[in-house]
Amino acid sequence: CGIVGYVGAQSALDVVIAGLKRLEYRGYDSAGVAVLADGGLAAAKKAGKLLNLEKELTDRPLPSGSTGIGHTRWATHGGPTDANAHPHLDNAGRVAVVHNGIIENFAALRAELAERGHDLASETDTEVVAHLLAEEFSSCGELPEAMRLVCRRLHGAFTLVAVHADEPDVVVGARRNSPLVVGVGDGEAFLASDVAAFIAHTRSAIELGQDQVVELRRDGATVTDFDGAPADVRTYHVDWDLSAAEKGGYDYFMLKEIAEQPKAVADTLLGRIDDHGSLTLDEARIPAAVLREAHKVVIVACGTAFHAGLIAKYAIEHWTRIPCEVELASEFRYRDPILDQRTLVVAVSQSGETMDTLMALRHAREQGAKVLAICNTNGSTIPRESDAVLYTHAGPEVAVASTKAFLTQLVACYLVALYLGQVRGTKWGDEIRAVIRDLSQIATQVEQVLRTMEPVRELARSLARKNTVLFLGRHVGYPVALEGALKLKELAYMHAEGFAAGELKHGPIALIENDMPVVVVVPSPRSRSVLHDKIVSNIQEIRARGARTIVIAEEGDTAVEAYADHLIRIPQTPALLQPMVATVPLQVFACELATARGNEVDQPRNLAKSVTVE
Ligand code: G6P
Repeated sequence: CGIVGYVGAQSALDVVIAGLKRLEYRGYDSAGVAVLADGGLAAAKKAGKLLNLEKELTDRPLPSGSTGIGHTRWATHGGPTDANAHPHLDNAGRVAVVHNGIIENFAALRAELAERGHDLASETDTEVVAHLLAEEFSSCGELPEAMRLVCRRLHGAFTLVAVHADEPDVVVGARRNSPLVVGVGDGEAFLASDVAAFIAHTRSAIELGQDQVVELRRDGATVTDFDGAPADVRTYHVDWDLSAAEKGGYDYFMLKEIAEQPKAVADTLLGRIDDHGSLTLDEARIPAAVLREAHKVVIVACGTAFHAGLIAKYAIEHWTRIPCEVELASEFRYRDPILDQRTLVVAVSQSGETMDTLMALRHAREQGAKVLAICNTNGSTIPRESDAVLYTHAGPEVAVASTKAFLTQLVACYLVALYLGQVRGTKWGDEIRAVIRDLSQIATQVEQVLRTMEPVRELARSLARKNTVLFLGRHVGYPVALEGALKLKELAYMHAEGFAAGELKHGPIALIENDMPVVVVVPSPRSRSVLHDKIVSNIQEIRARGARTIVIAEEGDTAVEAYADHLIRIPQTPALLQPMVATVPLQVFACELATARGNEVDQPRNLAKSVTVE
């Protein structure tokens, strides 16, 4: 989501709308604004693109004021409708709030508010904050203190910005999770989810820290922690141009999205595990009976999402003992697949608009199967046409080559697998808790991988003149190899192929030539020792035939050292979770190779982010 706040001498509405436009690259499904004017508060909000909101403002203009807030939404909970768009107001219409993130204890707070006579109009967690702020304001009489009191009661991840009609020259922001930056101007101040929203006005900025509240006035900003203790703030100068600002300082969206993976993974787990460590996927609305009776799971998807499905199959079958097929969506309906009411079809799609996947799910439903969508885009066609949906919370993905969406698709598929096990009783509380604990570590482990990528980039640059790169893997490492090869095709326009390492001797080994780079994803020696030993032999075989071996192996795996021309280390993970860390170096590798070859990273030739034709 994108957030903008303003207080100053200009028309707040103009500044806020212009700021929201600058955040457009973050993706949109609805937008809204609120301004303080004439002692009151006026708001407008609309589903769809910002243009819809602008049209609404032309048809029904808001009074002009100099304090305002705005929001563009990328829906996570609740569909993209006018009512669910931000800002949200209290009953008296004196407080307006915009929000990013998820308030996990909102149901309890909502019930409490209803008991005290509040009338809540929407199903959103944000509205609860508007009501709580109104209550606290009426007892403490100032908005920053009211915000601190409310924040102390909220669980989960949230970034909030609010205004109150009784404090017409103040905007208050609170940050727990997603970024919030203050822009300090001359007699005016800005708040935004990133500097792109205000660098046309000022380049002097303050980044808010975790658990801080900011009071924004024309003459500057006051920052405290949630208890009111003053916080140290450091003003810095933003020297990015606008296009660099949109990319958070990265050269490409793809690099930014690779770097966002730890957060994307953590966000996708957020709110899905209760205090006892059990899974709560109620939001997906998959009837338990459907899960209990399913005798087959079929995953349909395209491209990178298909590779996520291939990996998920290992987890689903291992944890639930239900047979799982994975099929390219474009092939699915044309082979007359066997489906019935007891088939659970899982359609995986970042965009939710891929025509091949949509057609596959329509076919499945016509045959009576139940369809669960795993999707990153709230309210898109695929979840709308499915029986149930579990959203990945990767945030908007702009680069054509999918990275953070892939990792979150894996997390979501694994959650579905565990949930199936939980409902069917094939997985018990303790086991589920153990896997969840391991999954919760992945964000940190991905971060660790990202910190050690310089040698991978160097290696990629040195291979810029090669024609072919092969990728090998076994078990879940096999689809990882396929994904590594796909990334290289998409971005570097190189001949790249992924193989199951065991299949090498049945053909592909004939391809090996002197100094041909071959990337090998090595399973853990701890949990997959048989496979590990086999792949070490494979590495020796290809090396004997001249291959230049690029080995991705766990820390502590010393057996590979003698045969690796290049060794890329990844943290130790349980076998099924390894793809979430092993894919990351392959993304970085492909991105750097593409750059070295002078290719356009974010928009590779001939490709589109979402393909809406069959
Ligand atoms: C396109 C993109 C791929 C993506 C595939 C599936 O081909 O270029 O990166 O993996 O579509 O997209 P979806 O939105 O359904 O996940």
